[in-house]
Amino acid sequence: MEERLQKILARSGAGSRRTAEQYIKDGRVSIDGAVVTDMGIKVDPAVHEICLNGRSIRLSEEKIHILLNKPAGYVTTLSDPQGRPIVTSLLKGIAQRVYPVGRLDLDTEGALLLTNDGDMAQRILHPSFEIKKTYVAKVTGVPSREKLDQLAKGIVLEGRRTSPAQLMVLQQTPRFTIIQIIIHEGRKRQVRKMFAAIGHRVLALKRVAYGNLQLDNLPSGKFRILSKQDLEKIFSGP
Ligand code: URA
Repeated sequence: MEERLQKILARSGAGSRRTAEQYIKDGRVSIDGAVVTDMGIKVDPAVHEICLNGRSIRLSEEKIHILLNKPAGYVTTLSDPQGRPIVTSLLKGIAQRVYPVGRLDLDTEGALLLTNDGDMAQRILHPSFEIKKTYVAKVTGVPSREKLDQLAKGIVLEGRRTSPAQLMVLQQTPRFTIIQIIIHEGRKRQVRKMFAAIGHRVLALKRVAYGNLQLDNLPSGKFRILSKQDLEKIFSGP
């Protein structure tokens, strides 16, 4: 993202914005090798090399953690060759370069964490932390108790057994059933594949919580910045 040069310099620890302006006036700052003395210039530090006194500046960004209610139809990659909308386009006003922690399918909606905090992302994704993820799935027909028990105990998907899951039927009609399912893994299309394995197609899928951090009533397409307490909720509880 483009920002004023003096602001970028200040963020790099070069001094206050006023000091940074003085450096620019003094001809001590260059962009891609060319000295700049123009105060109004805007530049994207991710694209251009900014040097102070001939040395490249380093920017340490403030860590940010975001919870987005992803709408269906958005991809969780940072670019899409097919031109489909990307989740980061929904983060209006966020200057940091954040990326999604894990993925949600194009058709899946709900809780998606985005951050620039690599350590936190690693902790959330690493299977050893076993962060529980809660989904609400609308599936075709009425799965029997036995079939749901199979999913709860673990089934073999692509040669590997899924770890135990918790399932709770929330609503049942002759045509579809709405089920809450809690899993601790993050295999590709896992929930869809689990239900397909017992003969019930997922018609709609929403992730409603990471650990004990609930999506609650965050509207679709909206996001909020997480506090330290929110982050603790991700790792807390059974
Ligand atoms: N399981 C799925 O099948 N899809 C998702 O997007 C997330 C979990």
